[in-house]
Amino acid sequence: MQPIQPLPFQADFEQPGDDEADTIQEMVEVMRSIGDKTYEDTGHGLRTVHAKSHALIQGTLHVLDGLPPAYAQGAFATPGHYPVIMRLSTNPGDILADSVSTPRGLAIKIIGVAGERLPGSEGDRTQDFVMQNAPAFTAPDPKAFLKTLKLLAKTTDRAEGLKKALSAVLRGTEKVVEAFGGESPTLKSLGGHPQTHVLGETFYTMVPVLYGPYFAKLSVAPVSAELIALTDAPVDLKDKPDGLRQAACESLAQHGGVWEVRVQLGVDIDKTPIEDASVQWPENLSPYVAVARIEIPIQSAWDEERAARIDDGMAFSPWHGLAAHRPLGGIMRSRKPAYEMSARLRGQRNGCPMHEPTADVRP
Ligand code: HEM
Repeated sequence: MQPIQPLPFQADFEQPGDDEADTIQEMVEVMRSIGDKTYEDTGHGLRTVHAKSHALIQGTLHVLDGLPPAYAQGAFATPGHYPVIMRLSTNPGDILADSVSTPRGLAIKIIGVAGERLPGSEGDRTQDFVMQNAPAFTAPDPKAFLKTLKLLAKTTDRAEGLKKALSAVLRGTEKVVEAFGGESPTLKSLGGHPQTHVLGETFYTMVPVLYGPYFAKLSVAPVSAELIALTDAPVDLKDKPDGLRQAACESLAQHGGVWEVRVQLGVDIDKTPIEDASVQWPENLSPYVAVARIEIPIQSAWDEERAARIDDGMAFSPWHGLAAHRPLGGIMRSRKPAYEMSARLRGQRNGCPMHEPTADVRP
């Protein structure tokens, strides 16, 4: 394959809409209403989305040696290794039985990264990447996402029996939609996601970040044989409310795991756009290229101590990190105040301020 020509980022690639600030404010309010509702129901300050964690993992990220110069940027500029924390989750704001099957999230925190910082994260030494298991976002821009968000917010309640029934119906519907060549993100986010093992997923930032002088999307993909074997592997979740967590913990306790961090550079502002978050960038124009490996030793990946330390005591956000990886586009701009609000409320409600790790973490 021809080496790709990455497109240098230009400030005018970002085009905030006139009423973007109002839309974002409304998004933050809807997000907050989800957190208020779950706090009322549980007495605990939960993330307003991605409340339930399935594995809380600690390991090491190794930046690969000999990267082509365009890929050796920001946190990946020089070979080296860093402690890393990974949090696997599913997207609802309430804690549901796993038989309500929804899209999966992966948040990564790389610890000890040096360089100029993003606004709001000046005092830290971390680089977070916050991903889901699809290559593009469900909505093109904040305005369109606000509509879906309002719909999702209405489903935040404790009517779990109803959600289980809805989920079973939606999974059937989703199979029909897929049989006709489509996938339906809305049905998936309401409970129509296939009941598969969470460790087999490939995760994507879905939307771009700066990548030094360029811009890029990132992914994290399983590469150890035991993880690859779990891709699309069915998990029996009947009568197992925490079945995804149990399956993930069993595998990590036996094998640990190895993932690759991969980078897809932007090459063309129309075909690999910044403001339309719903466009999947074509991999024939710019493939995902490995820049780092994450090695996770065998471990016990979920217990109350880890949940207190990582679920309640930490916040992951695309806006925690280096200026060299500034989040780009409307969806990313909307995430800054939303993640700040959610983390602040959790801290207040649980009486536990967020702790941004600075040095080594216990494996
Ligand atoms: C590319 C699009 C997105 C992806 C991949 C994504 C993924 C995730 C993931 C994986 C988490 C859990 C993080 C953790 O484990 O701590 C999360 C949390 C969260 N997301 Fe997103 N998200 C996206 C877009 C959005 C948007 C558009 C908003 C709202 C404007 C939003 C608001 C939040 C909030 C408020 C939290 C909870 C933060 C906390 O309490 O620490 N996300 N997201």
